[in-house]
This record gives sequence, C-alpha cells and structure tokens, in this order.
Amino acid sequence: MQYSLEESIKLSVDDISLGMFITGVQKRKRVNLKQAGRISSREQIITLRENGIKFVWVNEKLSDRHCFYKPVNQQQVFHHEEQTIPNELSHTQFPENTSLSNVEYGRAKELISEAKQLVQKLLVDMQDNKNVTLNDVEILADDMIESAFINTDALLCASALRNKDSYLLEHSVNVACLLISFGKYLGLTKAIMKELAIGGIIHDIGKIEVDDAILQKPAKLSPEEFEEMKKHQTHAEKIINGIDGLSQTSRDVCLMHHEKLDGSGYPRGLSGDQISLYGKMACVVDIYDALTADRVYKDGVSPLEAFKILIRLTPYHLDTDLVYKFINCLSVYPAGSIVQLDDYRVGVVCESNKSNPLEPIVKCFYSLSLKEQVNITVVDLKNSVNVIKQALSPSELEKIIPNFREYI
Ligand SMILES: [Fe+2]
Repeated sequence: MQYSLEESIKLSVDDISLGMFITGVQKRKRVNLKQAGRISSREQIITLRENGIKFVWVNEKLSDRHCFYKPVNQQQVFHHEEQTIPNELSHTQFPENTSLSNVEYGRAKELISEAKQLVQKLLVDMQDNKNVTLNDVEILADDMIESAFINTDALLCASALRNKDSYLLEHSVNVACLLISFGKYLGLTKAIMKELAIGGIIHDIGKIEVDDAILQKPAKLSPEEFEEMKKHQTHAEKIINGIDGLSQTSRDVCLMHHEKLDGSGYPRGLSGDQISLYGKMACVVDIYDALTADRVYKDGVSPLEAFKILIRLTPYHLDTDLVYKFINCLSVYPAGSIVQLDDYRVGVVCESNKSNPLEPIVKCFYSLSLKEQVNITVVDLKNSVNVIKQALSPSELEKIIPNFREYI
C-alpha cells in the first residue's frame, strides 16, 4: 500500500526508532513511497542505512505512542503546495533567513551603493582635475574585504543584482567585488586583496577621457570607435601616474585587464608571463562582468553562459587554470544568479554550495506556473527534492517580471 506524505515528518535515518511507521524513504532527491511500513526490528534500520537511505518520512498517528521525533527541520512537515506533485516528489520548505542573513545582505547592498557614489565622486574629481587621493578608496576596500570575510555570498549577491546605474559605476564596483572574492578563494593576503579591490575600482578610470558619444553609444561600436575606446588604457596610464601611493598590484589590474596571453591584447600587447597574476585575474573578472551585464545594445548572459565563453577564451586569451579556479570560486550557480526550479518556482541564489555546486540555497519568490509572486521561501537544495531546471539571466526574468528586484 502507498501512503500519502501529508502530515508525515522527515527524520534523519539516524533518528529512527522501533515502532515508527514509515511512509516514505529518501536516498537522494526522490522520496520513495513503496517501502512503507512499521519498523519492528533493528535489522530494518540497519538495512535502510546500508541501502544508502538518508531520510525517512514518518506518520506520527500510525506510529507507536512512545516514539520520540526529532524532525530534520521543524518546518519539514510535508504539505502539498502550488500544484499536484508527481507521487515521488516532495517539497522541502525552510523558514526565511536560515541562510543568507538579511542583515548581511542589507549591509552589503549599502556598501555597494556607497562604493558607486565614491566611484562617481572620483570620476567627477578627475574630470575637474582635482587632486585625487586614495584615502576614501582604501577605507572602502577595507570595508568590502571585511564584508567578504563575514559573508562572501552576501557581497557577491548585492553586486550581481545590478540596479542599472551607469555601466561604468556598476562595472567598476563589481570588478572590485569579484577580485576580492577571487583573491580570497586563491588564498591571497588581505593586503593584496585590498590592492586588487583598489585596482578594480579604478580599472576603467581612463574612460573619462573617451568621447561620451562612444562611451554611451546604444549600439555596438564600429571598428574606428573601438580603436578610440581602446585608448582608455593609454589614458589610464597617465591618470594613475598622478595618483600617489598606488601599488603595483592595483596598477597591474588597471593596466593589464585587456591584455591577452597570446599578445593580441592592448595597450602593450603583453603576452604570457609578462602579464602578472593580478593582471591575468583582472582579465578574467573584467570579461565575466561585462558578459553578465545588460547593456543598451545587448542583454547580459547568465553566469553559466559566461563561464562557457570564458572557457572558450582559453588558452590563447585567458589563463586556463585561472578560469577554472574562477568558476570554482563563484560556483556553477553563483550567489546573485537567477534560477528556475523544476517545480517552476524562480529564485535568486543566496548561497552557493562549494561541495556540491548544483545544490545551492535559493530564495524563491515567484512561480512561473501560477504566474504570480509567491511567499518568499528559502530552499536549501541539498535537503530538497527539487532541482534546478535552468539558469536565467536577469534580462530574461525581467521580460516576465519587470520589477523582480523588488521581490528579493
Ligand atoms: Fe577596460
């Protein structure tokens, strides 16, 4: 006989006791309802473990009265939701905020906003030929690194969910955030991470000298316009020579982020090891952020698509080892990326899963089947029967839910 999982409690296989009535067993994602029955011997428990069963669903009413229950999570009493679910699938709901703390995310969002204001001020000061000092940028870099050490995913999430401010502001801050995360992943010192962040903030500073008509052009640049755009790197060299106390690391990020390993990049056509590690990191990060950003003339791609393109750019343009390390650093579904689950819920990844990249923690806020906003539910895919069906780019989601950022 097959029992419904309604009102059943999910327990770890280690917490089963004699007399419990099992309505379903779960090895990996799927709940098997065909092995229902009462646990009447220790051997049955051992057999379940030997068969790799991780969780069982127990009906309290059908179990012996003396049984003690230790649910995997108090919220995991099974309920049908949204639509009829195939008989071997179930949902696992977790209370909001079990993962990404709203406090940390809020703080990271404020930091990103402050960073953009600072970059804006920096650009205006430079255009006005005012003396630029690094004091404020250094303080900001310290705050960003501190935020990354408290919760890297909160910082990445806040930077990935762009507000559609000026591209230059967004891109400069995002490159800084990504370089901090990448530096942390590679085990670089905080001092180097700070220099990387400063380099990221100023890396496109030369664009203040590029004609606005080219910079803001709502279409792909012509070859002549592209040649003009490339000059932002020669402008950058002059500009950063006037900044006191800029480290070599920050200089490399700024001046090498368009160089390519085969020597076909600019401004100097450096190749191989002429490009420092920090320059090579900046090349990867700069391209990734440009690919995932929406521009007037093109929609940003999902992180997954961007990773494929980065891999295609190895080994001639980008360092193969570094590209794979960067992908591992962000994980297949990075914090801030948008995903659709197999039950048609859509959410934002709020915490990546380094040990199993396909099972991040997702904050679901919309149902594509119901075509409406749903109660925000944080789904930890490592403990859920749901799986990710596909990654979506923010622009794809915007076509369905124009104001989706308000839901998050
Ligand atoms: Fe650039």
